Amino acid sequence: MRKINKIAVLTSGGDAPGMNAAIRAVVRGAIVNKLEVIGVNRGYEGLITNDLFEMNSQSVSNIIQQGGTILKSARCKEFNNPEGRKIAYDNLRKNNVDALVVIGGDGTLAGAHVFGTECDFPVVGIPGTIDNDLYGTDYTIGYDTALNTVIEAVDKIRDTASAHSRLFFIEVMGRDAGFLALRAAIASGAEAVLVPEVETDYEKLEAYLKNGYNKKKSSSIVLVAEGKKFGGGAIKVAKKVSKDHPYYDVRVTILGHLQRGGSPSAFDRVFASQMGVAAIQALLDDKKDVMVGMVDSKIVHVPLDDALKNRKTISSKLLALIDILSI
Ligand code: F6P
Repeated sequence: MRKINKIAVLTSGGDAPGMNAAIRAVVRGAIVNKLEVIGVNRGYEGLITNDLFEMNSQSVSNIIQQGGTILKSARCKEFNNPEGRKIAYDNLRKNNVDALVVIGGDGTLAGAHVFGTECDFPVVGIPGTIDNDLYGTDYTIGYDTALNTVIEAVDKIRDTASAHSRLFFIEVMGRDAGFLALRAAIASGAEAVLVPEVETDYEKLEAYLKNGYNKKKSSSIVLVAEGKKFGGGAIKVAKKVSKDHPYYDVRVTILGHLQRGGSPSAFDRVFASQMGVAAIQALLDDKKDVMVGMVDSKIVHVPLDDALKNRKTISSKLLALIDILSI
C-alpha cells in the first residue's frame, strides 16, 4: 500500500448543481488531513492532456453557492481506451498524485472503476448527477436542486395551461431513468407521469385524461421522462394523443438543460459537503474502488462494481401515489 500524500479531484459527465460544494469539501477535507490537492480540468480529458493544477483552501472560496463546476466537465471518449487510460496514469504519477476522487454519474464511475482496477490506482467516486439513478445511494448530488427547478417550471406552465384549458406534455431529463420525473410529478400535482422503467399504458393514460376532460378540469399536465424506451419523449406521446383525441388542445414543453443549472439547494450543498469529506476519509481508511453514498441518512461505501452492475429500482408506491392523487 502506497501512503497517500497527494490527491487529485475531477468532475466528469453531465454537470450537476452541488458539484462545486463537493469539490470544496474534497479540497478542504484533504488539506485538514495534511494532503496536497491537485485539480483536474475537464474530467478525464484533463488527465490525458495533463491539465492539472495545484489547489489550496482559497481555490474553493465562494463556490458553494454556484451551479456548474469550476473544474469544468467533459465526456471523454479517449478514456474508454487502455491507451488513453495509460497516458492518464502516467500523468498522475508524473505529478506525484497517489489517489483520485471523481465526481459524476454512471459513466464517470464506470471510467473510474476500469482505471482503478487496471492501473491499481486508488479511486473513490462521489455520486453527482441530476438523474439520481445510481444504485447504492439514496441521493446523488444535483437531484434535489433539479427537482425544485422542474417543479418551479411546471408550476409556471400550470398557470398558462389553466388559462387556456390545455393539456401539456412536459419532458423531464433523466436519460434512462424516471426518478426526476416521478418525484416532480408528485410535487407538482401532475395528472400522470410516464417513466422509462414502466411500459406506457396508453389506455390508462387516456382514461385519466378523459376523466379530467369530463370533469372539466381546467388543465392537465403529464410529465414524460426522456429516453428512447417506451414513451419515446414528450413529442411522440403528444402526437399520438392529439391524433387520437383531437378535442384536446395539446402543447409540449421540453425543459432540457435548464434542469442542470442554478444555485444548488440547501440539501445538495449539505449532501455534497458530506460526500466530499467522506471521500477523503475513505482514502485515508485505505478504501478504494468505491463510491461514497448515503442510505437512510448514513454514509456508505459501495464497491464500484456493485454500484455499476445493479440498477436502482423506481418506487411502485410513489407511482401508485400519482394514480390516487390525480383523480
Ligand atoms: O446524466 C445527466 C443528464 O442531464 C441526463 O439527464 C441527460 O440525458 C444527459 O445528461 C444529457 O447529456 P448532454 O448534456 O451531454 O446532452
